[in-house]
Amino acid sequence: MTGQETDGRLHGRRVLITGASSGIGAATARAIVAAGGRVALLARRPEPVQELATELDGAAVPADVTDVDGVGAAVEEAASQLGGLDGLVNAAGAMRAGRIADTDPAAWRLMFDVNVLGLLHVTQAAIPHLRRDGGDVVNISSMSGRRVGSVEMAAYAASKAAVHTVSEGLRRELSDDGVRVTVVAPGVVDTDLFGDRDDETTSRLRDKARTEGLGAVDVASAIVGVLLAPPHVVHVEVAMLSIHQ
Ligand SMILES: NC(=O)c1ccc[n+]([C@@H]2O[C@H](COP(=O)([O-])OP(=O)(O)OC[C@H]3O[C@@H](n4cnc5c(N)ncnc54)[C@H](OP(=O)(O)O)[C@@H]3O)[C@@H](O)[C@H]2O)c1
Repeated sequence: MTGQETDGRLHGRRVLITGASSGIGAATARAIVAAGGRVALLARRPEPVQELATELDGAAVPADVTDVDGVGAAVEEAASQLGGLDGLVNAAGAMRAGRIADTDPAAWRLMFDVNVLGLLHVTQAAIPHLRRDGGDVVNISSMSGRRVGSVEMAAYAASKAAVHTVSEGLRRELSDDGVRVTVVAPGVVDTDLFGDRDDETTSRLRDKARTEGLGAVDVASAIVGVLLAPPHVVHVEVAMLSIHQ
């Protein structure tokens, strides 16, 4: 089956989005609904998740991706409220900058817990639903997952490189079930990822994101483009940068 065209609409496709309380996840939820999809929203903070769910007539399933049981319950609740799942966007993420010689190991643990294990927990819980009718998994990595951007970013980059590796394996594992797996790897994006931390690298990245970065909506529209590809087309990786970076 080749050469199919799509009409640019998602026709009620049911997508669970993690990291949906802000930034790329929230922008993706809005973009999916604008294209005719339906959404379930997962992040830890219940208030922004519930507010956005109300705005988008979606499902709010607050959870911490590092809590396996909580994730399992949230994914089941999402599938129950939407009547199934056709897609998963793994956007939950954490970033801590620092040279390996100076970093508190708790920062490494946080990044691997959220960026790698959290993604695996949510994906494992969603697989039975995605297998039912085929679907999409879109994992948000980073340009750092392709190449270490600066010496203070090695551990974050390692966690994002793991997202590429997991995605590659998952694509092969699920292709016979009609589930497509894509990595979206943006350069710097103007979001809350940098928080108000004032170390030199994080401050530089936050400024760079504001002045030279992509917007969350740019990444969101790339994700919708991935979902809209004809069923036989798999976007393996979408690597994207602002032209100013
Ligand atoms: N901003 C950039 O420059 C950039 C560049 C490349 C890739 N990325 C990646 O893009 C993704 C989205 O980040 P963003 O830039 O949109 O930053 P953001 O606005 O800070 O969003 C991060 C999201 O992850 C959620 N989250 C964090 N820890 C979580 C946990 N334990 N359980 C559940 N949800 C959790 C946060 O919600 P709660 O706090 O409510 O849990 C928030 O919704 C991340 O994977 C990030 O690594 C960002």
